[in-house]
Amino acid sequence: MQIDIFTLFPQMFESPLSSGLLQRAIDRKLVSVNLHNIRDYTHNKHRTVDDYPYGGGAGMMLKPEPVFEAVEALQSDLSHKQEVVEVPIVLLTPQGRLFSQHIALKLSKYSHLVLICGHYEGIDERVREHLVTDEISIGDYVLSGGELAAMIVADAVVRLLPGVLGSEASPLDESHTTGLLEYPQYTRPQVYRDWAVPEVLLSGNHTQIAQWRREQSILRTLKRRPELLDKANLCTKEKQLVVRLKQSQ
Ligand code: 6GU
Repeated sequence: MQIDIFTLFPQMFESPLSSGLLQRAIDRKLVSVNLHNIRDYTHNKHRTVDDYPYGGGAGMMLKPEPVFEAVEALQSDLSHKQEVVEVPIVLLTPQGRLFSQHIALKLSKYSHLVLICGHYEGIDERVREHLVTDEISIGDYVLSGGELAAMIVADAVVRLLPGVLGSEASPLDESHTTGLLEYPQYTRPQVYRDWAVPEVLLSGNHTQIAQWRREQSILRTLKRRPELLDKANLCTKEKQLVVRLKQSQ
């Protein structure tokens, strides 16, 4: 996968891209991440990227020209080199659709992604109308810019690419992949400060362990994120369990 990120603050990405999972994926050539400074696509002496909103109002807007020219320079480059592939052009903005594991999985199927980091004061609407193909928000709160959101999207997507996680660390039963929160997990020591690991996990009975984990997932989801249960894939017995648990609450 290739990810091209358009931003006014490319230096913000240095540390996330040079540590942990993202760095490992880049080193192993499972993904390449290119940073593009939108300011490099201005033409005047002051390298202006912002301007006042027509009609008045608070704050400055991101001007359309440098954003269009930056992304079009990449597109022109691609059309000279590569076979044609569909490339989602994603604007990170609090007005976008809410990011989720489902969207991360969808995005991970593309071979190329473009991420544009918006500014909270706003971006000229023509960028939305004529350049962008998707708009994503990472939650109902306001950040100073789309950079942190772009890093979150990149992290969530890259860890789903084939070969990025070890073979044993399957993302299949993690929180949000199953539609449920993850069950409690323990590692050694068996007893720490009087607190013992649940007996069933030491039993070696894999059927019982799987059943206990499934129940714990359901219980935890009911307690913490009950709205997720409506969409989760539960069998008849599990649905009955949820009804009983709700009654005993
Ligand atoms: Cl993608 N951008 C900004 N500026 N704020 C946000 C956001 C994005 N998602 C949630 N808040």
